[in-house]
Amino acid sequence: MSRLYVVSASTRPASAGRPLAQWVAELAREHQEFETTLIDLAEVRLPFHEEPEHPSTGSYVHQHTKDWSAAIDAADCFVFVMPMYNGGFSAALKNAIDYLYKEWQSKPVGLISYSSGTSGGAPAIEMLRPVLARVGLRPAATLSVPGIEHRGDTEGRFLAEPLLAQQAHGVLDSVADAMEERRALEGTLQG
Ligand SMILES: Cc1cc2nc3c(=O)[nH]c(=O)nc-3n(C[C@H](O)[C@H](O)[C@H](O)COP(=O)(O)O)c2cc1C
Repeated sequence: MSRLYVVSASTRPASAGRPLAQWVAELAREHQEFETTLIDLAEVRLPFHEEPEHPSTGSYVHQHTKDWSAAIDAADCFVFVMPMYNGGFSAALKNAIDYLYKEWQSKPVGLISYSSGTSGGAPAIEMLRPVLARVGLRPAATLSVPGIEHRGDTEGRFLAEPLLAQQAHGVLDSVADAMEERRALEGTLQG
């Protein structure tokens, strides 16, 4: 089993994407490959990056950084569930990534974007790719969900049509495949 962290990347109190992240985490819990944790950046509440040393040193002064480092270090892989703001990814997601370095290295990440508009936030995923490359995160499959504000039921649960559910499973499967490849590679290197 791989420890998968689903990261909800909006810090807005009434995030329309939070039910989507919760739904993705539920799907992941049904997936035999994953032991799943949902992390909501609105609850993590990281301040703007304020560490004196470069993250690659792993030398942290603040307790919130040490806690964030321990959380991300414990994960094997991720799915980022990310809003698009003004054509890009959320500042909270960039800040959460910038805090750390080694903790992200070589770990697969599935990317699920969303937006009000018809793009479903696909441009935000493209904007994120060079950032992921810098910290060594390995992008797996992606999915973009348009019209996010119209996808909740009256109890705030995410409503997914069968095709979307199939696509979300595809993202999880791609992360599972990347984990398998990573384990095979590590086995080869050790052997
Ligand atoms: C600051 C800001 C910028 C936005 N920019 C876009 C945009 O460029 N394209 C789009 O389709 N929707 C845009 N939206 C709408 C968001 O995609 C939509 O409100 C979504 O629910 C935001 O995610 P959240 O509620 O989980 O924070 C923007 C919303 C905010 C708050």
